[in-house]
Amino acid sequence: MNTVTRPRRVERLVTGQATRDGAGVKLTRVLTHDLQQRLDPFLMLDNFASDDPNDYGAGFPDHPHRGFETVTYMIAGRMRHQDSAGHEGLLQNGGVQWMTAGRGLVHSEMPEQEEGVMEGFQLWLNLRGADKMCPPWYRDIQSAEIPEVTNAQGVLARVIAGHSHGTDGAMQREHTEPLYLDLRWPAAEARFEQLLPVTHNAFLYVYRGRVEVVDAQGQAEAVPLHRMAIFTNEGDGVTLRASANAQAILIAGKPLREPIAQYGPFVMNTREQLMQAVDDFRNGRLGG
Ligand code: CO
Repeated sequence: MNTVTRPRRVERLVTGQATRDGAGVKLTRVLTHDLQQRLDPFLMLDNFASDDPNDYGAGFPDHPHRGFETVTYMIAGRMRHQDSAGHEGLLQNGGVQWMTAGRGLVHSEMPEQEEGVMEGFQLWLNLRGADKMCPPWYRDIQSAEIPEVTNAQGVLARVIAGHSHGTDGAMQREHTEPLYLDLRWPAAEARFEQLLPVTHNAFLYVYRGRVEVVDAQGQAEAVPLHRMAIFTNEGDGVTLRASANAQAILIAGKPLREPIAQYGPFVMNTREQLMQAVDDFRNGRLGG
C-alpha cells in the first residue's frame, strides 16, 4: 500500500541564496519569495549550518510574526526562544519548534552555545485567511518525541509532520496537511518511496551527500548536495535513491490558493491587512 507506481519527476533544481538575517546570522535561503506561488502553502525555507560562532552567535533578537506558522528543526546545536506572552523553550539536537504566529507575537531565537556546530532549518508554512488572526500557539517537540520509521531497505524517516509508511508524525495540521520528513540513508544504496496526493506541492532538499529521483522508467535524476528539487504534480508519489549516508528533507503540503501579501515577517492576504499588522506592531498591539 506504500508502493509508488507513477513517480513524480523533478520539475527544476534550485540553488539557494546566501544571505544574512536576524542580527547577522549566515544562512542559505532555499525557498525564496519567487517560489511562494509554486510551492504554496510554503513561504520560505532557510538552511543554517556553520561551526563558526561569527556566523550564528548574534542570533535573532526580538522580532514579530503574523499570519503563518514557523517550523524550526535543529539538526545540531541549541537555541533558546522567548516570546512576548512569556513563553520560553530550548530547542536542541534533533528537536522541532512548531509555532503558529496567528494574530501575532514578538519573539527572539538566540543560540545558547558559544562554539560548535549550529545546523538546522526554518520553514514558513502559511495559514489560510480564516486562521491568520487565531491566537498564537506553539509546541516544542523534543527529538525523542519525533516518530521514526525504517523501511525494508534501511532508510530511516523521522516523521515530523504528516504520515509515512503507517507512522503518524509528531504534528498534523488541517487545511495545509503538511508532510515533513527527515530522511537518512544507510551506507549501502537504498530506495525510499513516499506516496503523495497529486494536489500537494512537494520538494526535496539534500543536506548530506546526494540523492537521486527515480522515474517510472527507472531513469534517475541526481539532486546534488545543497540543492532543492521541486517535484512535478503528476504522479502518485516520489521514489528516491541514495547511498553513502545521504540525508535530505522531503516536504509536501496542500496549497491554499489564496492571495499572498508579505511584508517581512507578516504574511497576510491583502495589502490593507499588512498595513494593519505594521500599525499594530508599532503601537504595541502585536503580542503581549
Ligand atoms: Co522568528
